[in-house]
Amino acid sequence: TAIQFDSHGVKTFIKEHEYEELKPQLAMAQKLLFEKKGAGSDYTDWVNWASNFDQQELQEIQRLAKKVQQQSKVLVVIGIGGSYLGAKMALDFMKSPWYNDLLEDGQTKIYFAGNNLSAMALQQLLRVIGDQDFSVNVISKSGQTTEAALSFRFFKQALEERYGREGAVDRIIATTDQKKGTLREEADTAGYETLVVPDGIGGRFSVLTAVGLLPMAVAGIDIEKVLAGAAAGEENYRSANFSSNAALQYAASRRILYDKGYTTEILASWEPSLQYFAEWWKQLMGESEGKNLKGIYPSSANYSTDLHSFGQYIQEGRRDLFETVVRVDEVASDLDVPKTPENSDGLAYLEGKTLDQVNQTAADGVAIAHIDGGVPNLAVRIAKQDERTLGELIYFFEMSVAISAYLFGINPFNQPGVEAYKTAMFALLEKPGYESESQLYKERLKN
Ligand code: PA5
Repeated sequence: TAIQFDSHGVKTFIKEHEYEELKPQLAMAQKLLFEKKGAGSDYTDWVNWASNFDQQELQEIQRLAKKVQQQSKVLVVIGIGGSYLGAKMALDFMKSPWYNDLLEDGQTKIYFAGNNLSAMALQQLLRVIGDQDFSVNVISKSGQTTEAALSFRFFKQALEERYGREGAVDRIIATTDQKKGTLREEADTAGYETLVVPDGIGGRFSVLTAVGLLPMAVAGIDIEKVLAGAAAGEENYRSANFSSNAALQYAASRRILYDKGYTTEILASWEPSLQYFAEWWKQLMGESEGKNLKGIYPSSANYSTDLHSFGQYIQEGRRDLFETVVRVDEVASDLDVPKTPENSDGLAYLEGKTLDQVNQTAADGVAIAHIDGGVPNLAVRIAKQDERTLGELIYFFEMSVAISAYLFGINPFNQPGVEAYKTAMFALLEKPGYESESQLYKERLKN
């Protein structure tokens, strides 16, 4: 497998018999998932999605990716939540957070929009695009998410101003439900190119559908290899054998720690290119597990950056934290620490080492310090950041959170709590249908 789950850092926090006691429940949770008998089972098609990936769909994604590459210098990917974070995470993981600045001439830049309601951000992005040719991939499973739909309106206007109505239509790809939703209706009426978000896969589990795969393909990521990695994940994490199934071990460790009062999990990494992996993970974990007044609060840290900000809290603050560190064993390219005759910076002791050796050693040291400070430390080790590993990592965390939620007796695949903010926002914005709440919410703003 591409992933090694390392639980040495919880040895002083979890006893072996605690894992033993959880095994029957884990087996039950896993059975519910695979037999599609658990809560929300209509949304479990991701479980064997990659290994059954439709070849025609793959070709269509690749055709559209090529079209965008030939047509435009910039692709604007519009979407929020599960319709945003997977593609952004994959781009950073496989390419770079500075992807757009490192491209060769002629390659297509990718920017993300529709993941906020900020007027400033939108105007700035339009300025960044300037007079470069651009295309839009608007992604929304429901087809009616306000942030994405509103942002799309602005970019449609910009496209029409630049290319005329027909030219604009030719530069839009809508990734949405096969049959329903406002975006689907608009796409069919206008004649946009479309890709489908499958019925049986929810937003935060959709990165390996057209939702994540089209932006990845535009960036030149080998999506067949990513899918192959996820298919390998299916093989590896299907097993009911606890000792060989890292996804079960991770789910069990989290649950035991939660029961001991460690209710916040920090997903940490030592590579800036994994920052958005944690953002994707936070949605996956938080939206799947945080309901019915239960669940582990997902947070993230970027090391060593954050050791100089809230590292103090991690070391000595309230003891309800545990860490899961994604460790990359081999960096794509390393650097020797430069040798200088003067040693004016006092760093001569690092000469002969590489920068990554310093980074890895810092990670080892921090793990020891945090464990000593009372922070249980789990590690998910990957050999390298390649397509196969990315696919397997995605599958590993998706499987783990589904099992974790079933252990809590929670439906991992819905998100009823997301509606609360929408109701208040729509009422205040006087959206038709919210008339009765409108007055009520406006009164509350006054007090
Ligand atoms: O996981 C989910 O289902 C949500 O976070 C959605 O991804 C998010 O709300 C965006 O929804 P949509 O794709 O319908 O615009």
